[in-house]
Amino acid sequence: MIKIAVLVSGGGTNLQALIDAQNAGAFPNGEIALVLASNQKAYALERAKNAGIESAVISRKSFDDPAEYDRAIVKALQSRQIDLVVLAGFLSILGKPVIDAYPDRIINIHPSLIPSFCGAGFYGLRVHQAALDYGVKVTGATVHLVNEIPDGGRILLQKAVEIQPEDTPEILQRRVMEEAEWKILPQAVAMLCRQLDQKENKG
Ligand code: GAR
Repeated sequence: MIKIAVLVSGGGTNLQALIDAQNAGAFPNGEIALVLASNQKAYALERAKNAGIESAVISRKSFDDPAEYDRAIVKALQSRQIDLVVLAGFLSILGKPVIDAYPDRIINIHPSLIPSFCGAGFYGLRVHQAALDYGVKVTGATVHLVNEIPDGGRILLQKAVEIQPEDTPEILQRRVMEEAEWKILPQAVAMLCRQLDQKENKG
């Protein structure tokens, strides 16, 4: 059984999509074992509580040294034998110690079609504002592996969403979530759990 940690910073609708998928039996080879928030106020923590999932908060601000923050995250994950790390609206950038501890085992959902509107500074509503400012007619969401380049790891899944003339960043954000993010993130998690479980059972 693959133990999954979901890392969050805000409302946690992607976490909710994962919880709902799990409850519908979408992860026969995995279970969400931990929700780790970057701040105490994240509503995602309520969602974890309601679903009976263990949660913890590790805030970057409480560490003077960024390497200490990364080590605290690794410790929280390893002490619970986490196999797969899912960044679901996690707005803190993970450093090398975390990436090295989970090679090809950290995925992120990004609310655009990478390589458009991604990288440092592109998060949340800013991504949708940038897509509208540029005037693209199609945007979407991407699930990708996490490496040291922000939004730079190998792409696993993408889904396109059409932009409508009356879209605001908020309207577009919601449609990208509904039509793309909440679908491809659970799909990617199911796929990776299956692959990692097969690997474990062979090894
Ligand atoms: C989502 O749209 C997610 O793709 C985005 O933040 C939102 C979090 O919503 N992530 C990024 O922009 C990362 N670069 P949620 O907390 O409701 O899942």
